[in-house]
Amino acid sequence: MLKLEDVEAGYGSAQVLFGVSFSVSPGACVSLMGRNGMGKTTTVRTIMGQIKPTGGTITRFGQAKNNMEPFELSRSGIGLVPEGRQIFTNLSVRENLGTFFRPARDGETIWTMDTVLDLFPRLRERLSHGGANLSGGEQQMLAIGRALMTNPRLLILDEATEGLAPIIREQIWDCLAMLKNAGQSILVIDKNINALAKLANHHCILEKGRVVWQGDSTELMANPDLKSRYLGV
Ligand SMILES: Nc1ncnc2c1ncn2[C@@H]1O[C@H](COP(=O)(O)OP(=O)(O)OP(=O)(O)O)[C@@H](O)[C@H]1O
Ligand SMILES: [Mg+2]
Repeated sequence: MLKLEDVEAGYGSAQVLFGVSFSVSPGACVSLMGRNGMGKTTTVRTIMGQIKPTGGTITRFGQAKNNMEPFELSRSGIGLVPEGRQIFTNLSVRENLGTFFRPARDGETIWTMDTVLDLFPRLRERLSHGGANLSGGEQQMLAIGRALMTNPRLLILDEATEGLAPIIREQIWDCLAMLKNAGQSILVIDKNINALAKLANHHCILEKGRVVWQGDSTELMANPDLKSRYLGV
């Protein structure tokens, strides 16, 4: 699905990523963790083509091509739930979802307006509401629903549970577990280690733009030193 090899990137002369390598295989759920400012969102922006890598290689769906534009990437099958949700606040729920619909490029089109609204019944009740009138949890559901509407081969979530009430967080984690069990490939960024350990197969820890540790959930939970050193918990 996705492979980063020694990826370097940054903003102008400020380099942020110094050789990031990890991969997401089909059907896998991989987490990317790390404290604030370590380069998680910058990694996502580089994967999405919003920032061009200055070194290394990104392979998406078997195609090693560094200079793809964001619209080509979303068309190729990457669905992004961006940091801070970024829904269209001046459009209704229906319009937010409808704008993003794209049939699957291969196989069955799973996600339509109807199936997304079945997944988030709360949004069905809010269909004609403007994005600005939704609660934080509803906005997050809309951001996830919008990404699913593209029928992505790979779903990327950047801090999708940030700033939500515990009960809403639980719903988001349940939703992600359901998607994973249905075979969706996922790259998930979050700060909730326990939830990530339950959900993801593989974990990567970023520290100052480098992947300093990778392993499975058992290794992650067995290593309290990792948490205090790299995750600040
Ligand atoms: N648009 C930008 N222009 C310049 N520097 C930026 C920009 N966005 C982020 N940075 C810098 O890049 C570094 C990595 O930031 P990034 O947003 O990737 O971290 P993060 O791991 O996602 O953090 P957080 O957990 O707070 O979301 C930080 O030093 C940040 O100040
Ligand atoms: Mg971030």
